Amino acid sequence: MKHPIKNNVSWIGKIDWELRRFHGDEYSTHRGSTYNSYLIEAEKVAVIDTVWAPFAKEYVAQLEQAIDLGKIDYVIANHAEIDHSGALPELMRRIPDVPIYCTANGVKSLRGHYHQDWNFRPVKTGDKLSLGSKELIFVEAPMLHWPDSMFCYLTGDDILFSNDAFGQHYASEHMFNDLVDQAELMAECIKYYANILTPFSELVTKKIQEVLGFNLPVDTICTSHGVVWRDNPIQIVQRYLAWAEGYQENQISLVYDTMWNGTRIMAESIATGLREADPAVNLKLFNLAKSDRNDVITEIFKSRALIVGSPTINRGILTSIAGLLEEVKGLKFRNKKAAAFGCYGWSGESVKLLRERLESAGFPVVEDGLRCLWNPDREGVAACLEFGRRLAGLL
Ligand SMILES: Cc1cc2nc3c(=O)[nH]c(=O)nc-3n(C[C@H](O)[C@H](O)[C@H](O)COP(=O)(O)O)c2cc1C
Ligand SMILES: [Fe+2]
Ligand SMILES: [Fe+2]
Repeated sequence: MKHPIKNNVSWIGKIDWELRRFHGDEYSTHRGSTYNSYLIEAEKVAVIDTVWAPFAKEYVAQLEQAIDLGKIDYVIANHAEIDHSGALPELMRRIPDVPIYCTANGVKSLRGHYHQDWNFRPVKTGDKLSLGSKELIFVEAPMLHWPDSMFCYLTGDDILFSNDAFGQHYASEHMFNDLVDQAELMAECIKYYANILTPFSELVTKKIQEVLGFNLPVDTICTSHGVVWRDNPIQIVQRYLAWAEGYQENQISLVYDTMWNGTRIMAESIATGLREADPAVNLKLFNLAKSDRNDVITEIFKSRALIVGSPTINRGILTSIAGLLEEVKGLKFRNKKAAAFGCYGWSGESVKLLRERLESAGFPVVEDGLRCLWNPDREGVAACLEFGRRLAGLL
């Protein structure tokens, strides 16, 4: 399981081909993931991060094959989340006195998770740890994406260990960004950004500018999930800068749910009207109940506008849509307009509720929205077509 990365730096993580859900059940991982841990065997030996708890025993056994555990001088914990710190208890049981370098917040969250008094050495931005001929420089990265997150940089090899930043849930035996399918790789990168990092976009821009300001050459970026960026690693930094700035493509997502298909007929008719008026726009329709929520969130992130539909149910909206709007609110998407629609039978609250929720999630709503009584008839369909044409000029 030891794979050479560069000179005396190796990957010693775990490729998790089976993983299909992450963060409990919150995040779909269609292509598995990896938990990347790194071993630096300079005059001093350092281990950077570990793996997720279920693989703790396997990890320490593999590490022991790679190196005599007694030779490890330092452990670096860039992030206390369990997918990276989960094997620490197993490792520290074997090397209890070895110092753990992490941020002050890292001490708090590692203690909070494992309730152990390990030999913590809190570090701040600019602090250095000599490994002999090379050194590690620490960079705090609070809220990217936890208060404890940090990066570290290895001089001599010019490697940035960025932890979750620039990572993606993508299992591959190839390890390096230039060896994998580029479309798959970028799809997983943007999904990771859209679903996890968008709330912190302002911090992403600032942190990247800060790190670029150090004028340290970056030859390789070793993240904590997915591939190592060795071929033009700045490409992913540039993608992050673009994604952090109110990202949008010429795409509109129509996301709906329906009980008896009326709201689906509305969605398809609105799309027809929109396409007539704006043939260039990439329109994508999703019945949310039949789609993967995280993939839909990624499509919304790529869109310039979101059109949401739900019938009225018990004076409210369908739960799939309510859940989506709750999640999207937390993700703080910017620079995307919105509109709402839906069928109803008597009281018909859904469209107003959708409008309110969209507004509270930070989406400017361009129209009052469109309601159809029961299943749309010829007139109802005509109203949807007209609504779509009108939206083309507003979104
Ligand atoms: C369980 C249930 C509860 C409903 N509650 C309401 C309601 O509170 N107010 C209302 O206007 N219509 C209500 N309706 C009627 C639906 O909004 C109506 O059937 C609509 O045409 C369904 O749209 P759909 O074909 O997109 O599912 C309810 C329907 C069902 C099945
Ligand atoms: Fe994390
Ligand atoms: Fe992670």
